[in-house]
Amino acid sequence: MRVLVLGATGKTGRQVVRALNSVDGVDVRAVSRSGGPIEDGTLVRFDWDDRTSWAPVVDGVDAVYLVDSQQSDAAQSMSDFARTAKCAGVSHAVLLSSRDAVVSHRPGDAAVVSAVQSSGMTWTVLRPTWFMQVFSEWDLFRDSIVEGRLVGTSGDGREPFIDTRDIGDVAAASLLDPERHAGKDYQLSGPDLLTFADAAGSIAQAAGTEVDYEQMTDQDFVAYLVERRGVGGPLAADLTQVFGWIREGRNAHVSDGVREVLGRAPRRFTDFIQEAAAQGVWAG
Ligand SMILES: NC(=O)c1ccc[n+]([C@@H]2O[C@H](COP(=O)([O-])OP(=O)(O)OC[C@H]3O[C@@H](n4cnc5c(N)ncnc54)[C@H](OP(=O)(O)O)[C@@H]3O)[C@@H](O)[C@H]2O)c1
Repeated sequence: MRVLVLGATGKTGRQVVRALNSVDGVDVRAVSRSGGPIEDGTLVRFDWDDRTSWAPVVDGVDAVYLVDSQQSDAAQSMSDFARTAKCAGVSHAVLLSSRDAVVSHRPGDAAVVSAVQSSGMTWTVLRPTWFMQVFSEWDLFRDSIVEGRLVGTSGDGREPFIDTRDIGDVAAASLLDPERHAGKDYQLSGPDLLTFADAAGSIAQAAGTEVDYEQMTDQDFVAYLVERRGVGGPLAADLTQVFGWIREGRNAHVSDGVREVLGRAPRRFTDFIQEAAAQGVWAG
C-alpha cells in the first residue's frame, strides 16, 4: 500500500510518517514545499502554489493524509487537489481539521471538510484540540517560554492539549484501514484539561526554570503579537479569537477519539513535558 503524506515536515505530518513507517509493507511518500532528506526518508516536493507539482505526488497512491494550505483559498485548492487525487486513483483521504472548527462554525473550515467529503474518495476527518507541541515546536510559544513569559488571553479557560504523536497514530490507523474508518469524524483530545497558566507551571517545573503566564486583554495581545513577535495581523487576530474560545470555556471538555481508534488512552501532558524538557527544548 502506498500512502501520500502532505505537510510531512509539519507537527502532525512528521508523526504520520513515523507511524506509517513502523508498519510493514507500507510505502510512504512524504511531501512538502521544501523537498530533501528527512529523518525517516526523503521528501518529495509538493507546493500548493505550484499546480505542476500535484499530479506527480498522487501517482500510484492508495490513500492520502491531507493538511490544507492554511491560505485564504484553502477550500478551493483542497477541492481541486482532491479531484486530482481521485482522478489518479487515490481511494481514501484522511483530513486534518480541528476541534475548534466545531465550536467556532467558521465557514472556511467547513468548506475544506466539505471539499474532501464531496471528492468521490472515501474520507476520515480528524478534529484535534490544541497540540501539546505548540509549546515545544512553535517558535512563538517556545521562544516566549525560554524568555520566561508565556502570554495569552485565555485566563481560567481550560484546553485538553493533545500530543501530535497520538494524531499521527490515529491518522496512520485511519489511512491503513479505510473500511473501518471511512465516513468517521473523530474528535481527538488529550486527557488533561489545563489552563495556559497550568501549562506554564508544568513546563517551569520540568525544565527547572521560571515561566510565568501573563494574561492580556485582546487588544494588548494583538499588539504584543504584531509588535513584539512579528506575527502578521490576520494571524494575530485569528489567534486572539481562538484564545477567546478557550477563555469562554468552549473547549473545556475531553473527547474520546484516540481511545475509539487506538483502543488506548491518549498521552498525558506531564509525560510530554518531561520528555521535551529532557531533550532540552526550553534550554534557551
Ligand atoms: N496548532 C494547533 O494546535 C492545531 C490544533 C488543531 C488543528 N490544527 C491544524 O493543523 C494544521 C497545521 O498542521 P501542522 O501543525 O501539522 O502543520 P505545520 O506544523 O504548521 O506545518 C505545515 C506543513 O505544511 C507544509 N507547507 C506549508 N506551506 C506549504 C505549501 N505552500 N505547499 C505545500 N506544503 C506546505 C510545510 O512544509 P515546509 O517544510 O515545506 O514548509 C509543513 O510540512 C492547520 O490546518 C491547523 O488548523 C492545528
